[in-house]
Amino acid sequence: MSYTSFDNVGLVKVLSFFQTHDSEYLSGQDLSDVLKISRVAVWKHIKKIQTLGYKIESKQKLGYRLVDDTEKLLPWEITRDLKTENIGKRVYYFEELDSTQNFAQQIAADKKENGTIVIAEKQTAGRGRLDRKWTSPKGGIWFSLIIHPKFDVSSSTLIPILSAVALSKSIKKSLGVETEVKWPNDIMLNGKKVAGILVDASVQANNIDYLILGIGINFDIDTKRLEKRLSKTPNFYGVNSLRENNNNKTPPKILLKEFLFQFEKNLASLNKGEKAKIVKEWTKNAAGIGRKITINTSNGKISGVSQGIDTDGALKIKTKKKIERVLVGDVDLS
Ligand code: ATP
Ligand code: BTN
Repeated sequence: MSYTSFDNVGLVKVLSFFQTHDSEYLSGQDLSDVLKISRVAVWKHIKKIQTLGYKIESKQKLGYRLVDDTEKLLPWEITRDLKTENIGKRVYYFEELDSTQNFAQQIAADKKENGTIVIAEKQTAGRGRLDRKWTSPKGGIWFSLIIHPKFDVSSSTLIPILSAVALSKSIKKSLGVETEVKWPNDIMLNGKKVAGILVDASVQANNIDYLILGIGINFDIDTKRLEKRLSKTPNFYGVNSLRENNNNKTPPKILLKEFLFQFEKNLASLNKGEKAKIVKEWTKNAAGIGRKITINTSNGKISGVSQGIDTDGALKIKTKKKIERVLVGDVDLS
């Protein structure tokens, strides 16, 4: 099953009417008169709305009323009251997909998809960095964001960094949970991985056609099960889930919308050339700076004291001999 923010008009009309008449009973006839659709169509939409996880009660003689919203990241829930100008205004939602990155790739070249997001409730072939697998059961926030950036390739290396900053900040703002960023673009909660970021790019000469940002957030997942499955994989240092550490019931859409807003702000900052500002923000929340760390690269291990990142997003590490710059690898903090 899939939905977008630009179709399903009838269903959204009925739902919006319920949402703007919070907890009031509405009769099928009234809905049909006001929305100018048949009673049968009203009834069909109500049934569909219920299957999407919204709670609608019905009472004889009184009609229907909405008593609870869904937790699903449905397109119209994302676009409603979204504070951004462009990011997240078009949304594709899938109950199940191989990978949101793959779907995004098929549509990304189209100009109108600049800022579009693709969401899946569950992925069967989720991808992580460095060709790894990303386990994506129900309960996570798995999405891809398409951007057609104005800047050149040299600035784009900061995209994962500014995304990590935006994600960490939005987690704090929406859930009140403090996280750390771990180079290159992991988000860590109590020393364990709670989110990861991946960037696929289509580049020609020195121009970027588009970037597809893939973001995976362990929002409400069974960490014990996941840890069991992942404990022998590379770069494993434990898995965390946001809701396990946060008793309030803030729905996932609040976090996603806050992220889109923070991301757009940071992107505007990069467009203005404010690289140092982004690096500074990242550094404030970064794990391991000034400490002895090891980086695993394809050319072997480098151990030394972490000096933080430069304006290309490269990690600087002080070894016995010199300061090395690393662009690709995994950091071991232990
Ligand atoms: P292969 O069969 O190709 O060896 P694998 O599943 O055994 O693959 P990798 O693909 O090599 O393992 O690595 C998986 C990586 O992704 C690890 O770093 C793991 O910690 C991480 N990972 C995957 N899914 C999640 C998730 N939902 N949350 C946190 N980390 C994850
Ligand atoms: C990492 O290795 O840390 C990056 C993980 C990125 C996972 C997300 S989930 C949504 C999007 N679709 C994918 O297949 N991968 C990214």
